[in-house]
Amino acid sequence: MSQFWKPGTERPQGRVVDDEEGGVLFLSGSHHSSSSSRYGYASIDKQRQRLPVFKYRTAILYLVETRATTIIVGETGSGKTTQIPQYLKEAGWAAGGRLIACTQPRRLAVQAVASRVAEEMGVKLGEEVGYTIRFEDVTKPDVTVLKFLTDGVLLREMMDDPLLTKYRNCELDVKVPGRAFEHELEKLRHVIMLDEAHERSISTDILLGLLKKIQRRRPELRLIISSATIEAKSMSDFFRMRKKRREPENEEHGLQVEPVILSVEGRGFNVQINYSEEPVQDYVQAAVSTVLLIHEREPAGDVLVFLTGQDDIDASVQLLNDEVQTTGKHSSGLIVLPLYSGLSRAEQELVFSQAPRGKRKVIISTNIAETSLTLEGIVYVVDSGFSKQRFYNPISDIENLVVAPISRASARQRAGRAGRVRPGKCYRLYTEEYFLNHMSNEGIPEIQRSSMVSCVIQLKALGIDNILGFDWPASPSTEAMIRALEILYSLRVLDDDAKLTSPTGFQVAEIPLDPMVSKMIIASSQLGCSEEIITIAAVLSVQSIWISGRGIQKESDEAKLRFAAAEGDHVTFLNVYKGFHQSGKSSQWCHKNYVNYHAMRKVLEVREQLKRIAKRIGLVLKSCESDMQVVRKAVTAGFFANACHLEEYSHNGMYKTLRGSQEVYIHPSSVLFRVNPKWVIYNSLVSTDRQYMRNVITIDPSCLLEAAPHFYQLQQSNHLLR
Ligand code: CDP
Ligand code: MG
Repeated sequence: MSQFWKPGTERPQGRVVDDEEGGVLFLSGSHHSSSSSRYGYASIDKQRQRLPVFKYRTAILYLVETRATTIIVGETGSGKTTQIPQYLKEAGWAAGGRLIACTQPRRLAVQAVASRVAEEMGVKLGEEVGYTIRFEDVTKPDVTVLKFLTDGVLLREMMDDPLLTKYRNCELDVKVPGRAFEHELEKLRHVIMLDEAHERSISTDILLGLLKKIQRRRPELRLIISSATIEAKSMSDFFRMRKKRREPENEEHGLQVEPVILSVEGRGFNVQINYSEEPVQDYVQAAVSTVLLIHEREPAGDVLVFLTGQDDIDASVQLLNDEVQTTGKHSSGLIVLPLYSGLSRAEQELVFSQAPRGKRKVIISTNIAETSLTLEGIVYVVDSGFSKQRFYNPISDIENLVVAPISRASARQRAGRAGRVRPGKCYRLYTEEYFLNHMSNEGIPEIQRSSMVSCVIQLKALGIDNILGFDWPASPSTEAMIRALEILYSLRVLDDDAKLTSPTGFQVAEIPLDPMVSKMIIASSQLGCSEEIITIAAVLSVQSIWISGRGIQKESDEAKLRFAAAEGDHVTFLNVYKGFHQSGKSSQWCHKNYVNYHAMRKVLEVREQLKRIAKRIGLVLKSCESDMQVVRKAVTAGFFANACHLEEYSHNGMYKTLRGSQEVYIHPSSVLFRVNPKWVIYNSLVSTDRQYMRNVITIDPSCLLEAAPHFYQLQQSNHLLR
């Protein structure tokens, strides 16, 4: 491989732990994790004891007992997520009806970790150990004591229970004096673990701000913040600011408010870094050839490839599988598996299971395997240098997921995944010069590159009025904030005083979807088409209901035509749903029509939940039968801000957004692709070589003025009537 690869100079796994510093305690471990034993037949207890975090069990429990906030830093795979909640339970933190909560930014990680912990504890998932992600609650009231959930779900739970008293699971009677009072206080002590804090997801950042606030009112609430990087330092500074406002009664409880950092990282094994000698043109192709080279020339050991999303992952899985079939001899020992959110339970299990003797597992993953999930047996890492990231431009009000370069911190994490079991190798599909001189050092927190619309509404619902003055771990931009207020005002979710309107604002806040989708649902209740709009909202909440892929494009496009509606994708979804229903929800029907059965089951589930929520907040459930005009009106009521019109002299289907005059095009997956109606509204944008609109519906421009007269001001209305 020497012609193509150039060994690098940096060792990825060596991490610097700062010295002891005012009020922050660093404990550093320097042992190897010896989890290679997972390949042996060690009992679960033995396996658990071999994890690096086990040596710190007593220290962790002591710190949680005595400190309000404990920050734990430890390399991926050291046992933070799976072990710490169990230690807490063993130490009695779940006694007396309390619940231990552990958040993750990613849904797939929530499921995988919960099922692993249930397995370790020898219990059925959904009983003592459960999980909650949006639209899926696998917990049992009064039985579940360890609950894994996404940070987004915890944030939602706070809307019903702002002080998170639920995590004690029992009613308090604080009027009782004396010992009984002590007993009641005891019940209040519970722990919330915010895991993967280094990811700086938007919900984690909001939670950090909120929990800091709550701790002031409820000092007995313990917080564990865990992180794979020393980024924890800034976390500690964030929580340390409390010192100035220290409340004396906290000290009375014998609780120290100063946060503490405990570092459990043990050095992984050496990882040899190889860089590409030349810049890589096509990272999918380069990743595939690199995997084949590794397989041909390197000794046994599994391969982990970092690509960006379902599209490029599926493409490379297919390329590798084709290779296995055509050339046979070199690649026969390869088992190629994709890893991204949206995989079924069975597919997930394959990723975690051990490859049969003599076979080499190749896992092609999104960023999720960077720190959220630990895969055993990885010896080789192939790093494309990219990931899908959310970017928001407050000027054009466009937020989209873009394939963008990762940071050096991420590249180091990725490389580190190769050194868990024994010395490994990492192949970076970029040059060393690029790594050293062009990659940014750290990623930007998601809150600084996202639309603030959902965030503002959630904080408002939590009664936090001064959003600009909120104590953020990283402040969002003022422009994004103002833009969000403007949009929420035009959706009539906020009033002139920037307070939630009643009932619309409160209803929108109750629905766990993007406020535009929620507004569309509320409007549909007034327009008499809520049954249809709830189906559309459910379809929009799954990734795609179509089966696509190389080689079946033609067939799947033809199948799509059977359902295509002139109004556009939203109405097409209604046709698919109807067909699915009439077939008796048959999987054969799905197969025949290139519809994803798994996605349709999910649509049914989400739809039921949305109906329940709609009823709870007083919406009227009604069908408009075949009147698609009202369906379009309801979509417009939510998505008027995404209106576009076809450029008059455009011959290539170029649209401009009404609001920001941005160039956009209809995505090839849309039934309106090449149809190019004059006026459309899109659901979301994806950006590749161009900005593409996904899920598009035709509209009547007069409905825009009706839906949001103040949003489309005078000069634009002239334009509209042109
Ligand atoms: O959170 P952290 O990265 O520190 O480690 P962890 O996720 O608690 O993983 C500890 C151990 O559990 C590792 O050896 C993993 O391989 C194993 N594990 C697993 O086998 N299956 C899972 N779904 C999750 C973890
Ligand atoms: Mg973890």
